[in-house]
Amino acid sequence: MTAAIRLVSVQKHFGGISVAEDISLEIHAGEILGLIGPNGAGKTTLFNLISGIHAPDGGEIYLGDQPLSRLPIYKRARLGIARTWQHVRLFPTLSVLDNLLMGPRDYPGAGTDERAAAILARVGMSEARDKMPGELPFGQQKLVALARTLMNDGKVLLLDEPMAGVEGQVYETIKQVVRDEAKAGRAVCVVEHNVSFIRDLCTRAVFMFNGRIEQQGTVEELLASEKLAELYFGGKKGETRS
Ligand SMILES: Nc1ncnc2c1ncn2[C@@H]1O[C@H](COP(=O)(O)OP(=O)(O)OP(=O)(O)O)[C@@H](O)[C@H]1O
Ligand SMILES: [Mg+2]
Repeated sequence: MTAAIRLVSVQKHFGGISVAEDISLEIHAGEILGLIGPNGAGKTTLFNLISGIHAPDGGEIYLGDQPLSRLPIYKRARLGIARTWQHVRLFPTLSVLDNLLMGPRDYPGAGTDERAAAILARVGMSEARDKMPGELPFGQQKLVALARTLMNDGKVLLLDEPMAGVEGQVYETIKQVVRDEAKAGRAVCVVEHNVSFIRDLCTRAVFMFNGRIEQQGTVEELLASEKLAELYFGGKKGETRS
């Protein structure tokens, strides 16, 4: 499989704390990679490094053959890196439709409004197009946030806890969208504490702990790992949210 995103020995410190320590990993086109680990492991930080919120202290991140670490956030988005946020982050004073219109790489491109309408339909949110985000239940806000990243229509989709706080139909919709995005050839990486979601969707996963990759492998290998059981579930069970 082709590596859409490649991290090579990426380092990041906040003060004296190492939050990314010699991180090397690939996210392949067409796969759904699971990124798991306890609170504070560095999962969101890794997304921030890939999307350009933080500059790495060392190492390099490539999109295909292109090094990214000197590029600002908006240029990385234009190259096709889209992400959701752990805390949703919709524009509160923009309608649902206008939130989506902030998502594309080429705005104002031809057919943008039609594409937004089609994506809203795809996530079952057509009727909410003129509502404000604050009028929607939390799960539907997450659907809008996911729909906004789909407007990027790029190569890489980074989803930070898409299932946290959602259930029922919204859960099923998100699952289907994530599957379809990978089928469309995008490299998808999902941070999730919901292990059954990871088990259902990912063939490969990465386990992070204290800024380090402790283990990578198939989901089966990771879930059978004693180290993961000890560091993630054992003794720290109360900290996981699945
Ligand atoms: N901007 C920042 N400045 C200083 N420290 C930070 C910053 N962002 C994150 N950290 C610290 O980096 C570590 C990793 O945080 P991160 O948010 O990446 O964890 P996470 O794996 O996403 O956890 P969770 O499952 O709770 O979302 C934590 O110790 C956190 O407090
Ligand atoms: Mg996080």
